[in-house]
Amino acid sequence: MHELIIVLDFGGQYNQLIARRVRECNVYCEVKSYKTSIEEIKALNPKGIIFTGGPNSVYLEDSPTISKEIFELGVPVLGLCYGCQLMAHLTGGKVDCASVSEFGKTETNFDTSGVLFKDLPEKGNTWMSHVDYISKLPEGFKATAYTADCPVAAMENEERKLYGMQYHPEVMHTENGTKMLRNFLYEACGCKGDWTMSSYAQTAINSVREKVGDGKVLLALSGGVDSSVLAALLSKAVGNQLTCIFVDHGLMRKNEGDEVEAAFADWDVNFVRVNAGERFLARLKGVEEPEAKRKIIGEEFIRVFEDEAKKIGTVDFLAQGTIYPDVIESGAGDAAVIKSHHNVGGLPDYVDFKDIVEPLRLLFKDEVRQLGVELGLADYLVWRQPFPGPGLAIRIIGDITEEKVAILQDADAIFREEIANAKLDRDINQYFAVLTSMRSVGVMGDFRTYDYTLALRGVTTSDFMTADFARIPYDVLEKISSRIVNEVKSINRIVYDITSKPPSTIEWE
Ligand code: XMP
Repeated sequence: MHELIIVLDFGGQYNQLIARRVRECNVYCEVKSYKTSIEEIKALNPKGIIFTGGPNSVYLEDSPTISKEIFELGVPVLGLCYGCQLMAHLTGGKVDCASVSEFGKTETNFDTSGVLFKDLPEKGNTWMSHVDYISKLPEGFKATAYTADCPVAAMENEERKLYGMQYHPEVMHTENGTKMLRNFLYEACGCKGDWTMSSYAQTAINSVREKVGDGKVLLALSGGVDSSVLAALLSKAVGNQLTCIFVDHGLMRKNEGDEVEAAFADWDVNFVRVNAGERFLARLKGVEEPEAKRKIIGEEFIRVFEDEAKKIGTVDFLAQGTIYPDVIESGAGDAAVIKSHHNVGGLPDYVDFKDIVEPLRLLFKDEVRQLGVELGLADYLVWRQPFPGPGLAIRIIGDITEEKVAILQDADAIFREEIANAKLDRDINQYFAVLTSMRSVGVMGDFRTYDYTLALRGVTTSDFMTADFARIPYDVLEKISSRIVNEVKSINRIVYDITSKPPSTIEWE
């Protein structure tokens, strides 16, 4: 029903980012595999198609490719990086390995008579990442950008509505990158921009109503952004036909269980809170290995949920907070598993229900937040930073005890409070404390101490796949450090984590 752009994925690392940028321009898009058939693409009736980058070389035999028919559909196509080379390769140009490869920020010159660069400056930095280059333009194309080492940094064939950029406009470091994509969408594809969260909210409410009818819906609410927005949406759609089960595993941040409960007090839903802290701690006793912790928590969560669900009796629908990155990631299928992420994916085997409702399935995280705002959900739930399903269990290194949980909760609360006081809470995308379980010697008053070392972690990131450590000013760190050692017993040393991701990950376990 909306204007649609298809992002054809050739294995590039930025495929999600491209889709997000397109949506930021108010145009709906979906990521599809490059193996999608031409018939299917035609049936979707897209306004435009974007080829993503990818790690291969177009001239090698087994590299991902696509039928040339795609260029005959009369639908504008934009190729990015590998996608640009593939377009050149398939339309009669030539791609070779360059003697000089380009990586990172590169000064680029643009021909502003080109559609992609309309109303933009003639010079600017772009983000390059390539070894191959287009050595001969295909017939009918003109080069519309170049750099010192790359004669075809962008190309277009206005008549056939085929466009390419060798660099990555979707990456923040490309100046005016989003405007270039916008030019493709609005100038080349003729999009009007009909994708907004306010219109989506009503569409989603209506389609949930239609699907659910007078059936009962069950939701595992974690208090995270996705499940909270989902609860708000379902509550607006079907009111108290919805039951939310909130399993408090006792590994939440300080006071968080009460806050989540309070946030839903005025909503039209059945809200069930299960305080299962003791149950979880008993099962985690003596367990040190991170993956084992995750597994135990995942399993126990399902058991607690199942026990509660049984009390409710049959339900018709199970609601899940799946969002678009999960859909794209599970479609890609060959990424290495670094950490198994705990979510409610295992539930369908254990609870008796007829069908699943997943109204957030097509949304990116920032869209989920916007939807939350549209629905009138409490600000602090909408803007909550990500919190891992296994909670503090993976922020206490080694074995977990009730005492350690309490220490970490107190220290983490002070850290968060001071970051908020310093008005840094929107700039740092995720920040938390880790109890390292390592002890060291210190001195307090005239006494020797032998206590825990606490680590602080703060990162800036746009996608949580890569991250940089946050540059928290020293005076803020000083205040945090002095408050924690003074106010929280058993901590006598504090360190700040200065690694980025990669090579580290955001969480310590
Ligand atoms: P890492 O540590 O993999 O974290 O760099 C990336 C993001 O994912 C969150 N995270 C998790 N979320 N269950 C979750 O629901 C998990 O097991 C889990 N592990 C990490 C992490 O907080 C960060 O935002």
